[in-house]
Amino acid sequence: MKNALIFANWKSNKNKNEAKNWLEEVSVQTFPSNLEVVILLPFTLLDFVSNFIKERSLPFKIGAQDVSPFESGPYTGEVSASQIKEFAEFALIGHSERRTNFGESDEMVRKKVEMVTAKGLIPIVCVSELLQLNGLESYEDIIIAYEPPGAISTSGPNANAENPQSVSMFAQKVKERILANMIYGGSVNTENVSTYLNLENVDGVLVGGESLDAKSFINILKNAV
Ligand code: PGA
Repeated sequence: MKNALIFANWKSNKNKNEAKNWLEEVSVQTFPSNLEVVILLPFTLLDFVSNFIKERSLPFKIGAQDVSPFESGPYTGEVSASQIKEFAEFALIGHSERRTNFGESDEMVRKKVEMVTAKGLIPIVCVSELLQLNGLESYEDIIIAYEPPGAISTSGPNANAENPQSVSMFAQKVKERILANMIYGGSVNTENVSTYLNLENVDGVLVGGESLDAKSFINILKNAV
């Protein structure tokens, strides 16, 4: 059984109490030991969730959903990689919701990757086309998430998980160019999770909507074999 990375992307959801209930419910379940589970949190929950995980020795790692391209300093509203590093090991960069809603460019994505790598965080870079890999080839400890925007569950009435064959082909092309772990995201659920995890060249999944409810997420973990 190969090891698999399972990322839960909570997006702009959950307060402390909701996070606590989710963690309590998910952590009492046993799930396959080949899974590495990482929760991608809003900044407001980094402190609370990292303490909660530490105190109870829960088998989860955490990451932030974005990061400043700048060092700590006079950048009102931004959260720097050094600040995130106090709590987390990963930073999600260039999600299509950020590219679309906040005008995040490939150049901005590269700056963020450079910054988080320099501070010892692992970047998870979301891409939907191979061109977006330009400038990322020299990184080794990096995760590339293939996320076609139309596959994201909230993208509209025609949202559809990407064809597994296309995911596998894309993953292979990424691995020919970059020494990266490759994950897939977009409408991953209990029924399709094992299909994606069993694809050659795919090392994990990024789960959005279906990670919010503890029961759905538990079922995803149970089926992730
Ligand atoms: P989804 O979101 O699982 O709800 O499609 C995935 C993502 O946007 O990361």
